[in-house]
Amino acid sequence: GADFNQKIDYVFKVVLIGDSAVGKSQLLARFARNEFSLESKATIGVEFQTKTLLIDHKTVKAQIWDTAGQERYRAVTSAYYRGAVGAMLVYDMTKRQSFDHMARWLEELRGHADKNIVIMLIGNKCDLGTLRAVPTEDAQEFAERENLYFMETSALGATNVESAFLTVLSEIY
Ligand code: GTP
Ligand code: MG
Repeated sequence: GADFNQKIDYVFKVVLIGDSAVGKSQLLARFARNEFSLESKATIGVEFQTKTLLIDHKTVKAQIWDTAGQERYRAVTSAYYRGAVGAMLVYDMTKRQSFDHMARWLEELRGHADKNIVIMLIGNKCDLGTLRAVPTEDAQEFAERENLYFMETSALGATNVESAFLTVLSEIY
């Protein structure tokens, strides 16, 4: 872990987006505090958590923003995306619809965020492999076409969560 007395070299804002219940808040809980809850409540408005890491001998403070997937709970969109240098575009691999909506989320992101933002497509809940509704190849193809990084994760099983955030943070840096 990073030395918290050390000076911060960079602060990077990363936003989480995607449909309700895909696991955005639990991915954040896993990454920031190594916690997970099956009784996670829908996010209302905007929340954020920070985690300080050492990347390439630099102290990077990641400020991860999390908002509601549900339209009626979302806060003002432009403020959410302002200053973001990374984004996690999350779908639930057991819910085809949440993947089909990725194009719309991406459009909103590209409409509001900086041109150089680093984007990671995330197929979450890979612990529920038997219920898979989105083949890896479909997501890979979409990611390649749209120039996104791609990983399948499980917030529950702590699979690829750190790796997904670290990839985005290292690419920003
Ligand atoms: P909104 O805040 O409404 O946008 O939803 P969200 O995307 O933040 O979803 P949240 O993190 O609250 O998770 C929704 C449900 O999925 C909760 O019951 C979580 O416990 C569960 N969940 C999240 N990640 C995983 C995972 O990796 N595996 C499994 N099996 N369940 C998960
Ligand atoms: Mg949430």
